[in-house]
Amino acid sequence: MTGARDDLLAKIREHRAVVGVIGLGYVGLPLALRFSEAGFRVLGFDTDLDKIARLAAGRSYLRRFPDDAVRRARDAGFEPCAPGARFAEADALVVCVPTPLDAHREPDLSFVIGTVESFLPYLRRGQLVSLESTTWPGTTEEELRPRIEARGLAVGGDVFLCFSPEREDPGNPLSVTRALPKVLGGATAACREVGLALYGAAIDRMVPVSSTRAAEMTKLLENIHRAVNIGLVNEMKIICDRMGLDVHEIIRAAATKPFGFAPYTPGPGLGGHCIPVDPFYLTWKARQYGLNTRFIELAGEINHAMPEWVVGKVAAALNARRRAVNGAKILVLGLAYKKNVEDLRESPSLRLMALLAELGAEVDYSDPHVPAMPRVRNYRFEMKSVALTPEALARYDAVLLATDHDAFDYEAIARHARLIVDTRGRWLEPRANVVKA
Ligand SMILES: NC(=O)c1ccc[n+]([C@@H]2O[C@H](COP(=O)([O-])OP(=O)(O)OC[C@H]3O[C@@H](n4cnc5c(N)ncnc54)[C@H](O)[C@@H]3O)[C@@H](O)[C@H]2O)c1
Repeated sequence: MTGARDDLLAKIREHRAVVGVIGLGYVGLPLALRFSEAGFRVLGFDTDLDKIARLAAGRSYLRRFPDDAVRRARDAGFEPCAPGARFAEADALVVCVPTPLDAHREPDLSFVIGTVESFLPYLRRGQLVSLESTTWPGTTEEELRPRIEARGLAVGGDVFLCFSPEREDPGNPLSVTRALPKVLGGATAACREVGLALYGAAIDRMVPVSSTRAAEMTKLLENIHRAVNIGLVNEMKIICDRMGLDVHEIIRAAATKPFGFAPYTPGPGLGGHCIPVDPFYLTWKARQYGLNTRFIELAGEINHAMPEWVVGKVAAALNARRRAVNGAKILVLGLAYKKNVEDLRESPSLRLMALLAELGAEVDYSDPHVPAMPRVRNYRFEMKSVALTPEALARYDAVLLATDHDAFDYEAIARHARLIVDTRGRWLEPRANVVKA
């Protein structure tokens, strides 16, 4: 009898392995499409039955992936389905479910644990389990491994376990799943070998590391690096503003240095599912070791305070024009947290709108990627995107550029808006109606 490892490696090599992707979101869907494109039969599991129905009908729900890509995958055997007995059909179970923070800003692993509990009854010899969700170092070893072993399956002998973080860059057309090097750590040497074989069949360059904990920490370092550097440029922005300097001019000039400097752009705060959230997974785990994550806390504090600072700049700009925020008509440009995407998760624009509304402003928004405001956590606005006509622009006391989508007509905005508060450094040259924030 050959071992489970050899059998699974042969199935992967011959593309007979069935890949189950659990969680068909921003991370899981592109991965499922990529495995399908690479010649594997893919089962896509999600608890959101609307998503399953749409994908099953060959329709995408993320703008980045055209219906065509989903239809091609469907033709090649991609089956979206509800979690359940079909987990047993998959030779690999790749977990891409959310890892948010709870109300106390502590890791909420309930989606990951819920997913594992849902496939455990179907787990069988010869399967690979790979966790992709960003999480604290030790999650795979401390949370997944004992649950698998409690089923009587040996990790590294019967079932193979690894952690391999995703590196999606939403809104970046150059970010292609197969071309992004992928880090992977295994629970044992055999786990790593099987994990590398599977992903290596779909991804151009794999980056093996010594353990699942090393892979988990690598992902956190990448995101913490970003959060801290954004915190730094946001602080520099406040200092530059007080000194009468434009931080964007300074950053562009510094970025001409061909070594030792990486440009980061300041903004109205941090958004998205990753950068404002992930660093605090490490903060939580570090406490267990008696350590404080000071850079993370400080960057978090600065980034979190940015919307208030921007609102202060809006108030000052209106004040200089003998207007109060109370009663002012303000149009927020860009609702998504990042340019050219439709994702509203943790978007600072929502916080800006809430803060301005609290002060009595009449707030509207315009975002070509978000025609109507969907229901989001913590905020309740029922509004539709305002079309950016010259008349509409001229109607507002202030236009607040929060997210600089390429689809905006910046010339028209500059020509027709009475006052622009620019949080993105879009207008470098001084203009009478532009205030930088
Ligand atoms: N979005 C990014 O750019 C990005 C980049 C790198 C890493 N990540 C990480 O990847 C993970 C997933 O993020 P995302 O952005 O894809 O999230 P998402 O919310 O877009 O997608 C998650 C999907 O999982 C589904 N789901 C939830 N519980 C489930 C369960 N028990 N069984 C099956 N499906 C379930 C949800 O319905 C949803 O469709 C997170 O840990 C995140 O930090 C995200």
